Amino acid sequence: MSWWRNASIYQVYLRSFADGNGDGVGDLAGLRTKLPHIASLGFDAIWLNPWYPSPLADGGYDVADYRDIEPVFGTLADAEELIADAHGLGIRIIIDLVPNHCSDQHPWFRNGLWDRFHVRDTEDLPNDWKSRFGGPAWSRLPDGRWYLHLYAAEQPDFNWENPVVEQEFEDILRFWLDRGVDGFRIDVADGLVKDFGKPDADLPYSDQDGVHEIYRKWRKIVDSYDGERILVGEMWLPDPVRFARYLRPDEMHSAFNFDFLCCPWNAGELRGVVDSTLAAHEPVGAPPTWVLSNHDVTRHVTRYGREKTGFSFADRQHGAPTDFELGTRRARAAIMLTAALPGGVYVYQGEELGLWEVEDLPDELREDPVWHRSGFTDRGRDGCRVPLPWSSQDGPSWLPQPENWHRFSVEAQADDPDSMLSLYRQVFARRREIDGALEWLDLGEDVLAFRRNSHTCVVNLSDRPIDLPAAPALTSIPLTGGQLPPDAAAWLF
Ligand code: NOJ
Repeated sequence: MSWWRNASIYQVYLRSFADGNGDGVGDLAGLRTKLPHIASLGFDAIWLNPWYPSPLADGGYDVADYRDIEPVFGTLADAEELIADAHGLGIRIIIDLVPNHCSDQHPWFRNGLWDRFHVRDTEDLPNDWKSRFGGPAWSRLPDGRWYLHLYAAEQPDFNWENPVVEQEFEDILRFWLDRGVDGFRIDVADGLVKDFGKPDADLPYSDQDGVHEIYRKWRKIVDSYDGERILVGEMWLPDPVRFARYLRPDEMHSAFNFDFLCCPWNAGELRGVVDSTLAAHEPVGAPPTWVLSNHDVTRHVTRYGREKTGFSFADRQHGAPTDFELGTRRARAAIMLTAALPGGVYVYQGEELGLWEVEDLPDELREDPVWHRSGFTDRGRDGCRVPLPWSSQDGPSWLPQPENWHRFSVEAQADDPDSMLSLYRQVFARRREIDGALEWLDLGEDVLAFRRNSHTCVVNLSDRPIDLPAAPALTSIPLTGGQLPPDAAAWLF
């Protein structure tokens, strides 16, 4: 079977992963030293957030040069050595490609090559489109004309109607494929084609039919290289059937399943998402993916410890009362559910340590442009980007760690059989033994249970302990009186 159909992929937010040179910012040198750790956890691949030269106006999603490495992170030679090291350990490398927009420091924008961007010469705002980070999607150039940015003002959108843009990205794909990367996570994959005639309410900058042509061309390029290189889409789309169109056999290989991430901790709703996901993917023959957290959303230990356990950008529930013990208990069960499902799984760095959303960062340290663009109403995404604790000796980092995080460090958890890290290690080792189609079992109300060949996964979302059909091989927390407690999961082989 193709590696990407059931891969376990670890997401590295480089800036906050491991600091190799002690400047408080994660880097490639740091990541290289931790590759054996990632391999030992049972992951097949790493997805790295953008590593390109960038003013970091949006954490690197404002790319100034698509063919180099941000100096704070290292050099192109470091990246090549990282790829070689990873391959030596059997780990593939997926990099982030940002084709919707660049940085306002990109040479095309600095040199005023305006036909490669969306520039309008109007008195008032060209239309009512809004930036996804808040405020209008248009800002003025020094000469008074407007340019489009669906995100921060420092992120001008490319004009994909210009063939030069298309050519450039095909070259960029080849540049990195030639250096051995195994795939691309495509940022805002639904957004490249725009219909300027329509108002904001119609979302005319998302999921326009023309965008599929781009991925058909990219698929041909990645397929022309050996070793099954892949395209993974980032699209937040409301309709799973529209979503699956990106995964037709001649387009992308897979994409992030955000319906699962956003879903509340509720048996019926989770089952509904699993079913609609499987149903949407089946006709196009693509594997689903399952993801609980990433660098844009509230960490799930926090979400699951709240009254509202789902996720929505419109309402992050920042600061809402949180029961961390409950959130942690559910997070343990959730990874056993996630990893038992058919398809690919993404793990966001730090969830294997049970890290929570850091919601008490001093406001003056916040870097996410969402904070200021929302008029200081949305505290944004910095709280899930606080650097990982490795040991009790960690130096200061670009965002400060909570004081007690050393108790959650890799060092502190490594030899503790009951730690979140030990659970992840067991889950991802044993995940390799699971295969086959999913078949639901009925073990009572508010219990999710399914079989895949000889493996059974049971998740108790009810408020009472339940009986298991046989003795489990792995549980998220110990059984009580032989029963699976509430908010716990079990695997039976
Ligand atoms: C999605 C990325 O995950 C997010 O971090 C970024 O801000 C936007 N795309 C814009 O590039």
